[in-house]
Amino acid sequence: MYDINIENLSVYYGPVCALQNINLKVKSNEILGIMGPNGGGKTTLLKTILKIIKPTEGKVSIKGDSSIGYVPQFTVFNRSFPINVLDVVLMGKLSRKIKWFQKYSFKDKKDAEELINKLGLLELKNRQIGQLSGGQLQKVLIARALITDPKILILDEPTANLDTKAKKEIHEMLKKLSENKTILIVTHEMKDIFPYIDTAAYVNKTLHYYENPQKLKSEIFEKTYGYSIGTINKEKVIDKKITGHKEDEDDQRII
Ligand SMILES: Nc1ncnc2c1ncn2[C@@H]1O[C@H](COP(=O)(O)OP(=O)(O)O)[C@@H](O)[C@H]1O
Ligand SMILES: [Mg+2]
Repeated sequence: MYDINIENLSVYYGPVCALQNINLKVKSNEILGIMGPNGGGKTTLLKTILKIIKPTEGKVSIKGDSSIGYVPQFTVFNRSFPINVLDVVLMGKLSRKIKWFQKYSFKDKKDAEELINKLGLLELKNRQIGQLSGGQLQKVLIARALITDPKILILDEPTANLDTKAKKEIHEMLKKLSENKTILIVTHEMKDIFPYIDTAAYVNKTLHYYENPQKLKSEIFEKTYGYSIGTINKEKVIDKKITGHKEDEDDQRII
């Protein structure tokens, strides 16, 4: 039932504690929105799930060792490098193959074209990456992460610096993909993301999980504006005061 199960996870960088005693279960085909201040440990959490970082304590289990696609937070790309969209998507196959000199097979190319088509990017297929808008490039990087057809897709701030239209397109794309994929998305797009996510997590060294993301939305609203959204009832506000976590001024600005 759970694609990802994290138990009592702590991660330290030397003496710096990035994550402290985290528990998290992610259901199959769920979209989990991960939020929290800069430096809160969101990227560390994703990298631990990806096994790029080793837990200091605790463990991360992935169901049946499902494959994971990853769209990193900052993709270092020389935009003037002469490479087109199809080539970038095909690069997603390379990491699996290790044999860097190996040419792509006919099937690889066919898979890439099919995926590009499915994601509505066919007209960009032969476009040089330097000629893409930020939103288009991000979609191509998502396609690159999807080329091996992973069960789990992990995206680290994929819509940062994009305009509202591009954000919406990417969110719609993820919603469609979640029909048969489990998706974890780190985002600062508080306003835009809520209609698209099933559950939410707030990460600031510790992790608060929200079965109902609207509760997190209300808490953030209240923390930012000092009063609750009309629909939130008194009980919830009281509950928040008891169990809620106070962040410092800095965090409020980031949110
Ligand atoms: N490679 C690293 N070495 C040392 N400290 C790191 C490293 N990566 C991240 N950190 C620290 O761990 C904390 C969490 O960082 P990060 O996971 O990148 O947070 P976020 O993605 O939420 O902004 C921060 O205090 C950051 O400075
Ligand atoms: Mg990060």
